[in-house]
Amino acid sequence: MEEKKIHIFDTTLRDGEQVPGCKLNTKEKVEIALQLEALGVDVIEAGFPVSSPGDFQSVRDISLALKETTVCGLSRAVLKDIETAAEALRHARRPRIHTGIGTSDLHIRAKFNATRAEILERAVQCVRWAKNFVDDVEFYAEDAGRTDNEYLARVIEAVIRAGATVVNIPDTTGYCLPYQYGEKIAYLINNVPNIDRAVISCHCHNDLGLATANAIAGVIAGARQIECTINGLGERAGNTALEEVVMIIRQHQDLGFYTGVKPEQLNPMSRLVSDTMRMPVQPNKAIVGSNAFSHSSGIHQDGFLKNAQTYEIIAPEEVGADSSKIVLTARSGRSALAYRFRKLGYDFNRDEVDELYPLFLKTADAKKEVKDDDLLQMAKALSVAE
Ligand code: KIV
Ligand code: ZN
Repeated sequence: MEEKKIHIFDTTLRDGEQVPGCKLNTKEKVEIALQLEALGVDVIEAGFPVSSPGDFQSVRDISLALKETTVCGLSRAVLKDIETAAEALRHARRPRIHTGIGTSDLHIRAKFNATRAEILERAVQCVRWAKNFVDDVEFYAEDAGRTDNEYLARVIEAVIRAGATVVNIPDTTGYCLPYQYGEKIAYLINNVPNIDRAVISCHCHNDLGLATANAIAGVIAGARQIECTINGLGERAGNTALEEVVMIIRQHQDLGFYTGVKPEQLNPMSRLVSDTMRMPVQPNKAIVGSNAFSHSSGIHQDGFLKNAQTYEIIAPEEVGADSSKIVLTARSGRSALAYRFRKLGYDFNRDEVDELYPLFLKTADAKKEVKDDDLLQMAKALSVAE
């Protein structure tokens, strides 16, 4: 089976930076962009140039700094936005303008007080404007997740005819179930006659915790680009997490996809973004959380110590994480206790571990986690008793 490339479009610096309190300065953004390029993403959405002079400067400086990666600037379907994005991207080796408009009936009525026909016209017009400045134009149909499929197909056909190279189908409110999002992509593939002239992109939000599942459903249905952010940062509950989709594609080679992302850089990248944006990563976060490779219950620890693959589908070094941890709690068993003592240089036999175990449980019940210092005290108590 020939493997198909899934393009990774990172929007940490645009959608990710929309998180309250996450404002970055230009220097920080350039540093993150350079690391994203080293990570191997295909496209970096560097900002929304018309939104502020600072964002304009960041997109400009990132365009100057990057060597290979496509640099993308966001705009609304407004001529001034598009001109400003084009100006900010002027020095990019591979510039892309990302422009679009809301296509759900709710957006058409509530935001634009317009009709479907008027919105279709504006969609075509904004792609045409953008094409005056760059070859690579991505169109987004905002709230595509709640847009009627038949109308969405007409909009997508028209913007591809106008020159869109990528068509982004955002589930802006994180509303879709994975099968619905997959069906939407399949509908476009089957009902847009010129769809083979553009790449379909998934842009999923996490309001129901489905952003990653929806993006994967999208690529299974035929999309070839995923828009995502480091640590899943983004507006409200966030976006599809880059580290999750990259590792799903890597783990499930049966799907026949690959990305250009270097997995061993995922944890260092996550730490850089978390520290720079001052946004701690939840401990149970897949791939990059501090507990992602920690084992604390006796049953798991015993299996893990016999063969790590019993409880780990990914080795921590594959994603640049610290080694797996055996955490000692009141749920831990004798094998984990003996293992941790061995790491401290005490090779206790079975009887000795049996003797230590009640003392360990007493300490574990009193504390959340039994640490090396506690173990050293127990070891000392045992040697005094002997
Ligand atoms: O969620 C969304 O619809 C967006 C678009 C601007 C692409 O972020
Ligand atoms: Zn978004």
